[in-house]
Amino acid sequence: MSMDELRSEPDEIRPCRAGAKPLGSTVAMEVAPVVSLQKAQKVYARGAAKVVGLDGLDFTVHPGEFVSVMGPSGCGKSTLLNVLGTLDRLDGGEYFFEGQPIAALDDAALSALRSKRIGFVFQQFHLLQRYSALENVELPMVYARIAKTERRVRAESAMALVGLTDRMHHLPTELSGGQQQRVAIARSLVNDPALLLADEPTGALDSQTSVDILRLFKELNARGVTIFMVTHDAEVAKNARRLIRMKDAHIVSDERLERAA
Ligand SMILES: Nc1ncnc2c1ncn2[C@@H]1O[C@H](COP(=O)(O)OP(=O)(O)OP(=O)(O)O)[C@@H](O)[C@H]1O
Ligand SMILES: [Mg+2]
Repeated sequence: MSMDELRSEPDEIRPCRAGAKPLGSTVAMEVAPVVSLQKAQKVYARGAAKVVGLDGLDFTVHPGEFVSVMGPSGCGKSTLLNVLGTLDRLDGGEYFFEGQPIAALDDAALSALRSKRIGFVFQQFHLLQRYSALENVELPMVYARIAKTERRVRAESAMALVGLTDRMHHLPTELSGGQQQRVAIARSLVNDPALLLADEPTGALDSQTSVDILRLFKELNARGVTIFMVTHDAEVAKNARRLIRMKDAHIVSDERLERAA
């Protein structure tokens, strides 16, 4: 889906999108999952001791889902997100991204996949301070070798999508925290990723700004963006449509959430 389609797609055709179907419906089952983990295991060596980061996780995320992962500090949320984002490899089990076994890819192939198919949003916005908001949003397209004129068009479109057209030429230091996170979200979307990964995206924001950012996530999800969000905050997690709870490197529950429209 292009950025223009994201912006201009009329409401009435949205339910036709495969991702808009409820999980478990016949149509959703026919669509290849974005993410599939099977017996996923991650172990960190700490001196002689071993710390288990992920202990045999199994789950699938389909296109169009909005999943949040909750759990106490140290339970493995960021570990999971890093694995899904291909920033870290599993020590056991299997990870399929859009049906492709990740273990078979070398580092160069992984980094190409990451830059084209996965968007990242973090608690700290990680914007380059010497570049304007628009230039920050263009950056993933530089890595993806997209031509300059197209980069500019797509970056402007992404800035409009997050409601920041009037701040495009500002430096990050001239933007509020919420605006900086919007820039980071625009940056995460410019390559039209199959998956948007967010690790505590509202962790550095005040409560009203957090509400605004979560509203933006819900709007993006309603337009078909698949979102996987990690948080320790129940208020944040309940904005998703599915909630996975973790404890001690395990999944302890995985439930569908009812959400007010
Ligand atoms: N690079 C690493 N080396 C060693 N141990 C690690 C490493 N990264 C994470 N761990 C350990 O793995 C476990 C899971 O860590 P993780 O960062 O995934 O937790 P988390 O759920 O994201 O916590 P928080 O809510 O505090 O961010 C913890 O015990 C942590 O100390
Ligand atoms: Mg974490």
